[in-house]
Amino acid sequence: MEYEEIKKRIAIIRDQEVKGIPDEMMIKIRKKIEEKTPNSKPLAEVMKSLVPGGTQHQMCLKDPYAVTIKRTLGTRMWDVDDNEYIDYLMSAGACILGHNYPPFREKLIEVLQDLSPDLYWNCEWEIKAIKLVQKHMPSVERMVYFQSGTEANMAAIRIARVFTGKEKIIKFGGSYHGWSDQLNYDIHIPFSGAMEADGIPKGCYKDTISLPPNDLNALEENLKKWSEKRKGVAAVIVEPLGAESGAIPVPPDFNKKVRELCDQYGALLIFDEVVTGFRLDLGGAQKYFGVKPDLTIFGKLLTQGYPSSGAVGGRADIMNATTSDIDVSSKHASASGTIRGNPLTVAATYWGIKIMEETGTIEKAATAADDLVKKLNDLFEQHERPYFAYNYKSIVHYETFSPLAIDIRDMNNIPKAVYRKKCVDDLATVMFSEGVITKYGNRAFTCMQHAPEDNDKFIEAMDVALKMIPKY
Ligand SMILES: Cc1ncc(COP(=O)(O)O)c(C=O)c1O
Repeated sequence: MEYEEIKKRIAIIRDQEVKGIPDEMMIKIRKKIEEKTPNSKPLAEVMKSLVPGGTQHQMCLKDPYAVTIKRTLGTRMWDVDDNEYIDYLMSAGACILGHNYPPFREKLIEVLQDLSPDLYWNCEWEIKAIKLVQKHMPSVERMVYFQSGTEANMAAIRIARVFTGKEKIIKFGGSYHGWSDQLNYDIHIPFSGAMEADGIPKGCYKDTISLPPNDLNALEENLKKWSEKRKGVAAVIVEPLGAESGAIPVPPDFNKKVRELCDQYGALLIFDEVVTGFRLDLGGAQKYFGVKPDLTIFGKLLTQGYPSSGAVGGRADIMNATTSDIDVSSKHASASGTIRGNPLTVAATYWGIKIMEETGTIEKAATAADDLVKKLNDLFEQHERPYFAYNYKSIVHYETFSPLAIDIRDMNNIPKAVYRKKCVDDLATVMFSEGVITKYGNRAFTCMQHAPEDNDKFIEAMDVALKMIPKY
């Protein structure tokens, strides 16, 4: 679906009053889940006594509680009550081969026979992994591993500051670049500013500028304004598909224009490819959009969900601003990590990409997503709803209540956004009760093993949910 069409249809949903699944129906759904999961229920209580909120994961469904999974394979997960689920959350996007894919697992077990993650030394898998990344992404002249996407983002902005000698970082509203003190600002919902920055001193994000999504005029104004001041803009960081992996999509030429403005005003361009890297293309969003960033941030599919997944790659002259040396004689971006780039991590990069090359993973997962999107749009039409689905390869968005579209600059709209978020969460809970796992209730990731029959089950689950949503 084209950008303009997506924008128009999101606006239609945004401008309607919406009603979610009625509370009395949700009570029944919770009861159904509880009846299906008698073994998970007490384990969830134990988890709550050990882990705040009962789960370590933000996107794990918690209503009525997070179930305990005992086995995963391909597109399936089984809980401790032997319920089978079809998974479309795919480890929040960190899995595209399918869970626990045997050919991948076996390669890593072979590596572990000789080298364990506690190596703390160079190994040849590092060279093989980085050369393979470079083959697909020539912009990655040098690459340094970190332990998560969050850490890699922190490192990238520090490297950019050392290299340019400037301090400001520009991001766009709603974009997520991890939870570090400087970037955990204006995340998820545009214009939310510091709403999710409790516990972070204001001074930490004083050099973070967040602009309205897709606002190139504001970008130019800020680049211009700050280029005349001592502090200046070190880098502009983008999620290249737009905030939340394209939930707020960017116009087709957006990245190209950001590149041009960065060049004009001497700021670096950072692509956060934590989600898009190796999912949109083996060459990432940079290949997909034909735009070369100065720095690229990796996570998730860099290691296919194996620890510890994070890296920064980019131009040699910029990347050389960070080394593992302890050096007080010249300016450098200090960054280290005990287990970064360990043999398991780098071998996971190498074998993950190798298997993706050999199996045509990206296209298979994208074909599954195309099929799912078509079926979803047919179903929404049958139900005479304004809802719609679209995808970027294996990243599927379906817009039903569109909480991100609500403009919370008007404080009166905050309850509206909160209610719409509850509506999508409830939609996900109903689908879960039917054995289908999704991200909240508005995104699905496909892997190369999702088959049309799996998508049919997704559609059946969505059909059940849609029948519960009152027409308005
Ligand atoms: C675009 C983007 N950047 C950064 C991150 C943070 O990565 P991690 O969860 O590995 O810290 C995420 C995580 O979802 C992400 O989606």
